Amino acid sequence: MNHRQAWDPDRYARNARFVAELGMPVVDLLAPKPGEKILDLGCGDGALTEKLVHFGCRVVGVDASAEQVRAARARGIDARVIDAHQLPFRNQFDAVFSNAALHWMRRADEVLAGVFLALKAGGRFVAECGASGNVARIEAALCAALARRGVDADPVNPWYFPTPDEYRLKLIGQGFRVVRMDVIPRPTALPGDLAGWLETFAEAFVAPLPPSQRREIFLEVQESLRGELYDGSGTWTADYVRLRFAAEKPKTP
Ligand code: BEZ
Repeated sequence: MNHRQAWDPDRYARNARFVAELGMPVVDLLAPKPGEKILDLGCGDGALTEKLVHFGCRVVGVDASAEQVRAARARGIDARVIDAHQLPFRNQFDAVFSNAALHWMRRADEVLAGVFLALKAGGRFVAECGASGNVARIEAALCAALARRGVDADPVNPWYFPTPDEYRLKLIGQGFRVVRMDVIPRPTALPGDLAGWLETFAEAFVAPLPPSQRREIFLEVQESLRGELYDGSGTWTADYVRLRFAAEKPKTP
């Protein structure tokens, strides 16, 4: 059973503002042009969607989280609560953009089928997500802490970090032409401690446990990684690895 991650926009802003800040290279790869119609898939609180609007694009943001969509709308963005596994759009967009969202979408084939249908012929799909190996040390420590309590993390793990070959095949399988695909190791300094990051991003892992044990687990994981991910003077670093790609819906079928 999958627990739905709750997105508290204030907590997100505190612990995860860097996600949008580090997303600018994906915007550069998209190279948005004024007037283009763009779908931002997993738009979150709209921090990056807003940049696309500033380029003069007509942007629709979609996100499964009503809290995040509310925050995006407060920026004046046309944001809608939509499950990315069931996109309703047909031949509408010049481009689909996605930053740090696809790794929350475990049924990738359904998502990619919807993206393909949403694009006009010749439209582009430009995105970045976690690649295989992303936050591997954190994930392993989390799974070990759960195992010590007799909990199997597999059924509750909400993350999907594909290899480039795996994702390339999925894109091709839906009819895309893959233009580029890069794996980018990007150790990332966190704005707070690791427990804060876990509270923001790893809620689903601890959902099977009583609330009183959840914070305890995150502190235990943090302590187990102190030697590897803490620099001793205030900075925690997450072992991020990104998968950044550009693909195209062929002009002719
Ligand atoms: C990421 O952006 O790489 C990420 C997000 C949530 C959980 C783990 C990793």
